[in-house]
Amino acid sequence: MVKNTEIKLSVIARDVKKSPTDALVIGVAQGPDGPVLLDNPLTAKSAEAIAESLKVLGLTGAADQVHRLPGLPEAGAAVLVLAGVGKPGAGGRLTEEALRRAAGSAIRQLAGLTTVTLALPTASPADVAAIAEGAAMGSYSFTEHRSEANGRKEPVKNVVIFTDFAADKDLQPLLNRSALIGKAVNATRSLVNQPPSHLFPESFADAAKELSKGLPVKVTVWDEKRLEKEGFGGIMGVGKGSTRQPRLVKVEYAPSKASAKIALVGKGITFDTGGISIKPALGMGDMKSDMAGAAVVLNTVLAIAGLGLPVKATAWLCIAENMPSGAAQRPADVLTMFGGKTVEVLNTDAEGRLVMADGIVAASQEYPDAIIDVATLTGAQLIALGNRTAGVMGSDSVTGPLKAAADRAGELVWPMPLPEELRASIDSEVADLANIGERHGGMMTAAVFLREFVGKGKDGEQIPWAHIDIAGPSFNNGSPYGYTPKQGTGCTVRTLVAYVEDVLAASAS
Ligand code: BES
Ligand code: MN
Ligand code: ZN
Repeated sequence: MVKNTEIKLSVIARDVKKSPTDALVIGVAQGPDGPVLLDNPLTAKSAEAIAESLKVLGLTGAADQVHRLPGLPEAGAAVLVLAGVGKPGAGGRLTEEALRRAAGSAIRQLAGLTTVTLALPTASPADVAAIAEGAAMGSYSFTEHRSEANGRKEPVKNVVIFTDFAADKDLQPLLNRSALIGKAVNATRSLVNQPPSHLFPESFADAAKELSKGLPVKVTVWDEKRLEKEGFGGIMGVGKGSTRQPRLVKVEYAPSKASAKIALVGKGITFDTGGISIKPALGMGDMKSDMAGAAVVLNTVLAIAGLGLPVKATAWLCIAENMPSGAAQRPADVLTMFGGKTVEVLNTDAEGRLVMADGIVAASQEYPDAIIDVATLTGAQLIALGNRTAGVMGSDSVTGPLKAAADRAGELVWPMPLPEELRASIDSEVADLANIGERHGGMMTAAVFLREFVGKGKDGEQIPWAHIDIAGPSFNNGSPYGYTPKQGTGCTVRTLVAYVEDVLAASAS
């Protein structure tokens, strides 16, 4: 269930003759006066001829354009591929994200070929790393449940990157990081894509153990008996309606040298029917992705362990299946959550905040420097920020650096406020809190609910905390674009790894 094929990445100084390949990819930018052929390893004569024909070929240089031409004998490639990189930024410079997307899009669209050489312009080792990362993410495919290929093309196996930085001493660690990040993102996608027939609480916990093999992490699994005994009322309440019992999984990476301690909490609803407050049939199948947050925090900690970063990082996976049945929780039920707070469940479809509350309380008990929770929490996230931009809410000391990390990683997140008037809307007539409140701005209402469960640190102040709502960006039910396939996207793994690196860099200086 957790097998993903990895591409082979290699980097060489540009020399078209030395590198026989199926396709040689060259960039085209969207200039102010039309398409511009970017710096490339062809002879001046060939490059000139191609540059002249760009317009007639109908190319604009827009992102995701991929056009195949017959290979030039000099290029040692069966085909020459022109790949759009979009509009360059100030000074004609391409951003790392533009390169990441162009590389990812080309590798994705060239599926069926074995070896592809990317000859996109690189101005730094970081640009080369971005291309490698894009290629790793663009080569993703999920075929585990197909009995036949049915004309589907195999993903590209080998990617060769042409760059003048091939011999740069800074490059190798950056490339290792790119490969690891690509692996973590792709593993996240596969967990999300896995059908609920195959991925349920117990098998998700098993997959977490399997993925952790060979890494210096400790995995602890709470089964339903232990959850019940220790009072995890939120996770148990949501899981009650299913024949498949809930789990809490803790994945700890604790290197001997650590200069920070971060806790990550993820929503792991392996299928969200809504429970007794059942969802409409249309699109319900997408709710197999309601465990994306847990998949993200798991693979983030595994990536951090793989990189050997000097940080204590713990992932808490709050896993349950939300089903309607005679055993399910009812609207108006009251739960006693882990830590003792009581919650009146007025809508069983607001289940994510119930499992997350338990996880946030458990994470708080270890006094981390910061808690970041990741969840496909609300449809309101999609209304507020759309399909591709995650919402981030919570303590300014965490949300600010998270936004900066997302910018650096090339992911879309946007900070939202937690207006004080929302708090009263989750008051209950019978319990400490109700699990639903003000509908308008429902993404923020959900975050205000979660905030109630963030514990105090040793200093007596609330532990710095941020909540990321990935309801929209975690699952692409539109067309693929850039390095992003259909279905599971693996979003926010890159942001979280970048956040941890930034925290470490700040503590070192
Ligand atoms: N898993 C859903 C949120 C969701 C919706 C994720 C669409 C991805 C795409 C969540 O459990 C849910 O059902 N939330 C409710 C909350 C409401 C009852 C307060 C929602 O957003 O409608
Ligand atoms: Mn729900
Ligand atoms: Zn849900």
